[in-house]
Amino acid sequence: AHAEVAALADARRRGHDVRGATAVVTLEPCDHTGRTGPCSRALLDAGIARVVVSVADPNPAAAGGADRLRAAGVDVLEGVLAEQGRETLGAWLPAVERARPFVTLKLATSLDGRVAAADGSSRWITSPQSRRHAHDLRADVDAIVVGTGTALADDPSLTARTADGALTHHQPLRVVVGHRDVPAGARLHGPGGELVHVRTHDPREVLRVLHEREVRHVLVEGGPTLAAAFLRAGFVDEVHAYVAPVLLGAGPPALADLGVTTITGALRLTPREVVHLGPDVLVVATPDAPAPPTGTSTTSEES
Ligand SMILES: NC(=O)c1ccc[n+]([C@@H]2O[C@H](COP(=O)([O-])OP(=O)(O)OC[C@H]3O[C@@H](n4cnc5c(N)ncnc54)[C@H](OP(=O)(O)O)[C@@H]3O)[C@@H](O)[C@H]2O)c1
Repeated sequence: AHAEVAALADARRRGHDVRGATAVVTLEPCDHTGRTGPCSRALLDAGIARVVVSVADPNPAAAGGADRLRAAGVDVLEGVLAEQGRETLGAWLPAVERARPFVTLKLATSLDGRVAAADGSSRWITSPQSRRHAHDLRADVDAIVVGTGTALADDPSLTARTADGALTHHQPLRVVVGHRDVPAGARLHGPGGELVHVRTHDPREVLRVLHEREVRHVLVEGGPTLAAAFLRAGFVDEVHAYVAPVLLGAGPPALADLGVTTITGALRLTPREVVHLGPDVLVVATPDAPAPPTGTSTTSEES
């Protein structure tokens, strides 16, 4: 149920009379019948007198709740703490606004930027603390995406687990991208979220398929080929880079070719957060707007 419906039911259960009360909501109450009836209707039926809204609903199918409430005589105040409201809504808001899932790219690398050793083994580069942290993120997203290369090399289960190894209540969709089959005995067919195989090399197509399934937040977990394809297409909204104090010297780098041929063409990011996780460091960063086609400076970095 939507938050308004749940909050009203909770108030009723506790014996509170909400007639004449003020409802404070992050997102404009919806005005459409989805899995539940319209929230605007529920607020009116409950006799709410005033509604304070932070962010207007960007979904055309659901918008209009504020107008309906006003038309029925409710005092509606919109745009309160809008910036904080947008932040609270997280990945959901940009996903609905842009009609494609919000994409977080996860990298787990050695200090020299590698994601596996020369023989392809990669368990484990990062510490248990980092892996615990990454599982919490998995439990938060709607889908985890990997390329067939990772599915075949690592035989991952792509599940979200609690500290004691049990599956968490919410399991994200497990999405494999590429033409090769996932073998019948693979862990991806075991317990966990539904397995979706998208037989394409086009990140846009992956996001189209997932948007159609109402996926709002996607975690791309690699490997290097798929990660580079998402970056080149400009579809990465946020990078979570777990860096472990390990040196490998050989083995696949975190990213395949990005098409960057000179330093002025580098894909630059702005760090948002740096977290210490045991011996590792997690850098959360967002890609800056694409560089203009020609760089303005040709000065080489001083060393
Ligand atoms: N430490 C980490 O964070 C981490 C995470 C993941 C993987 N890894 C390591 O990465 C290695 C695997 O690397 P990888 O690059 O093969 O993995 P990948 O990116 O998962 O898979 C690459 C494959 O995906 C398909 N594909 C999907 N989109 C594509 C595109 N736009 N362009 C080209 N191919 C595309 C192709 O296979 P088809 O022929 O089937 O179409 C391609 O061979 C393993 O050693 C694994 O352990 C490490």
